[in-house]
Amino acid sequence: MEINQITDREQAPMDLLLLADPNQQIVENYLKDGHCYGAYQRGSLIGVYVLINKSSEIAEIANIAVHPDRQNEGIGRKLIEHAIKVAESMGFEHIEIGTGNSSLGQLALYQKCGFSMQAIIKDFFTDHYEDPIEENGIICRDMIRLSKQLT
Ligand code: ACO
Repeated sequence: MEINQITDREQAPMDLLLLADPNQQIVENYLKDGHCYGAYQRGSLIGVYVLINKSSEIAEIANIAVHPDRQNEGIGRKLIEHAIKVAESMGFEHIEIGTGNSSLGQLALYQKCGFSMQAIIKDFFTDHYEDPIEENGIICRDMIRLSKQLT
């Protein structure tokens, strides 16, 4: 598997990006401000992430998604490890990621990759998303913010 930057915004895989965030306007804003990377295998795009500058010290993985047929094969972990290296090489001090209170698998993965919980933004999803989101039988209401210190 190869991970390469997608520099042409038109080439960004919106179908995959929308798996991570159903709001297309928000995704387009990430693409405008961020660096998009794709994971390719035999020429097919199987995963994507977008890294944004939250501040001069903090990078954020704003969006990460793996093709539904290829999830749970370790591709998401490889993308996060790549994002950590890219953020380090850009000189950031911390890397952050945010997800919903109901995203149990994502919370597990991010902590396995060295992120720890920093904050909860109460009612973020119920306030900002029109349609209710439910996963694992839990209403997605709050955003959990996680952070990892970079060396
Ligand atoms: N409990 C414990 N561990 C779990 C659980 C759980 N419920 N669910 C998953 N995991 C662990 C797995 O055991 C595995 O750990 P391991 O590496 O130690 O074996 C890890 O989480 C899964 O790792 P990967 O296989 O690398 O993950 P995958 O390739 O499926 O990618 C991703 C993860 C990106 C979340 C993918 O499932 C996806 O695209 N989901 C839909 C979109 C999405 O939700 N994106 C994230 C939104 S938040 C944001 O974008 C900032």
